Amino acid sequence: MKHLITPLDLNIHELDDLLTLAGKIYRNRERYKKVCEGKKLASLFYEPSTRTRLSFEAAMMNLGGNVLGFSSADSSSVAKGESIADTIRVISYYADICTMRHPKEGAPLVASMYSGIPIINAGDGGHNHPTQTLTDLLTIKELKGDLNNLTIGVCGDLKFGRTVHSLINAMVRYENIKFVMISPPELKIPDYLRKETLDAGNIPYLETSDFESVMPELDILYMTRVQRERFFNEEDYIRLKDSFILDNNKLKNARKDMLILHPLPRVNEISTEVDSDPRAVYFKQAQYGVYLRMALIMKLLEIPDPYQKEELC
Ligand code: NCD
Repeated sequence: MKHLITPLDLNIHELDDLLTLAGKIYRNRERYKKVCEGKKLASLFYEPSTRTRLSFEAAMMNLGGNVLGFSSADSSSVAKGESIADTIRVISYYADICTMRHPKEGAPLVASMYSGIPIINAGDGGHNHPTQTLTDLLTIKELKGDLNNLTIGVCGDLKFGRTVHSLINAMVRYENIKFVMISPPELKIPDYLRKETLDAGNIPYLETSDFESVMPELDILYMTRVQRERFFNEEDYIRLKDSFILDNNKLKNARKDMLILHPLPRVNEISTEVDSDPRAVYFKQAQYGVYLRMALIMKLLEIPDPYQKEELC
């Protein structure tokens, strides 16, 4: 049985296959509306979420399946002190696949050790968020046509932002990738990622807090929110929260074909005036998330693509 705990749980061929299926579903949605009939998704969210939870639930419904679960720890038996291991042992009898978001790093991995059904990590603390990354990859592939030869700027909270950690882990496997890390010194990427992923893989990267000077080099600008809930004190958050705000003026020297991504929710790191710029694709990115999750549910449930042999684009 396969789980998705980090983006590296899929090798590059499986990843390619998944993105191809997601693109096919996106362009032929009606065809897939019964492939998960009779199947159930358990959606266990111990931490707030809008897009991830609802796009998972929409994905299962779009495939003809059903959804059960909870959207806060308070409304589950964890409030009575139940362990993840016990919860998942039981949920395995109630559902066919499970998506889990948890504030503790490693919780979905623990769940996968006790589970009788595939577990999908929907975000574990400041650690990983693989389905957001797969969504980001789908967005880049669909809109740029290729995942190789890219200079990717990641901006904001690179220390606590799990979407950035997963994105770096996933993108280093493609050819000719460079990173530009834009953050205040206090919010740089964690050392383990710098040493084990970037330095170990000889991946070129630049760390800077000068947003505007690097703008002309970027193919992708991945903006992130400062993660208030992971700060130890409010004063640090307040001091750092507005470090980088993207507006039309800052985009003046950016490439015409640069893509602006953001996993959302946005607080104020992207001014709303940017929303009408054709390079701003963050709402489209949220839409792709549903089709990516449809493809992922099919793959993990080992449901073959009924249109495998047909030349659907
Ligand atoms: C992200 C997350 O939860 O890590 N949101 C999401 O899933 N789309 C980013 C964030 O909360 O800042």
